[in-house]
Amino acid sequence: MSSIKTAKRLNLFGEYVFSKLGKAVKEVEAKSKRKVLNFGPGNPDVAPNPLYIDKLSEFLRDKDAHLYPGYGANDEFAQGVVYWYKKRFNVNLEKTEVLPLLGAKDSISHLPLALLDEGDEVLIPDPGYPAFSEPALMVGSKPVYYDLKEGFNFKISLEQLEEKISNKTKFIWINFPSNPTGQVATLKELEKIVIFAKKHNILIVYDNAYSEITFDGYAAPSILQIDEAKDISVELGSFSKTFSFAGFRMGWIVGNSKVIQALAKVKSQMDSGMSTPLQKLASFALTNTDEKWQQDMIASYKERRDIIAHYLKKLGLNFTIPKGSLYIWAKIPETAKSCEEFCLKLLWEKQILFTPGTAFGKNGERFVRVSICINIDEIESYFV
Ligand SMILES: Cc1ncc(COP(=O)(O)O)c(C=O)c1O
Repeated sequence: MSSIKTAKRLNLFGEYVFSKLGKAVKEVEAKSKRKVLNFGPGNPDVAPNPLYIDKLSEFLRDKDAHLYPGYGANDEFAQGVVYWYKKRFNVNLEKTEVLPLLGAKDSISHLPLALLDEGDEVLIPDPGYPAFSEPALMVGSKPVYYDLKEGFNFKISLEQLEEKISNKTKFIWINFPSNPTGQVATLKELEKIVIFAKKHNILIVYDNAYSEITFDGYAAPSILQIDEAKDISVELGSFSKTFSFAGFRMGWIVGNSKVIQALAKVKSQMDSGMSTPLQKLASFALTNTDEKWQQDMIASYKERRDIIAHYLKKLGLNFTIPKGSLYIWAKIPETAKSCEEFCLKLLWEKQILFTPGTAFGKNGERFVRVSICINIDEIESYFV
């Protein structure tokens, strides 16, 4: 037995849900001698554009590629993001309003250090991306959950937000296209939220990680399209989903320069920046987007979304086909006791893994999240 004592704050939260589910999958595979069809993580599995991979290997061979990259965005990275925001959203950004991230999750875990003092409150969607909560707890602040309910179409109720807000509220996490519900937002809806945030003088952190993963003619807006939104908002973007670079750990945060500088200060103590080859790759990809590759990626997800939807119905699940994100948020049959029980039963009996809705908050009690990032070649044999 080791006498080493770890920090008390580790008791504030459990193991990350996908780490826990990964262990369950291994156990079931060992006992059943069958590979689990894992609808758990949203791991963007479309192969990245070979042009970008060729460029990356070229950038890795550049003379100073191996050196520390320095802090913040280099000129190329900043120009790439500025160019893309103008082209994609008609939003103007300055270099001081752009920061590279080691994946969007980098800012999700570090923003609480930059924004929250002990006792402060942060508004978090329920259900929502699990990583929104624990970093807030780690700095001694309080997550206050707002509901995204079926009866309200998984949209934000401003009336409810009025009830949840207090003089301790510092910022609100908003995420559309939503993980896990797949619900999307219109610019009009975002406008109302910006007005609300301005009235209460709170910051909006808009997680737009799935902005480019949308279907059926829907295009996701940026919150920065709204007049003066920059006064009170920052927005996250992810190369993981947009370019299938998940393993490279690349993202960005843009918007309010005071928040960007605060996060940069925290990050300067935590990491030593995004490597120069990756900043060059980011800039190259953003300024040389390939519509054909993008359309093929969406077509691949859409095809799988529709095939998976067909099989989910066979299990008696109820859902709306999502217009965005990589997930179907499905209601379990009334006969099921709980989402956990429903998922465990499927895992052991059919070697199918869905994520129990409660992994995303208490409003997920009667739901499961089904990732569409799976190989569907053998799907038929699992749903017999
Ligand atoms: C809502 C949301 N934000 C951020 C992330 C993390 O993205 P990244 O891979 O860029 O860290 C995810 C990943 O699943 C997500 O679902």
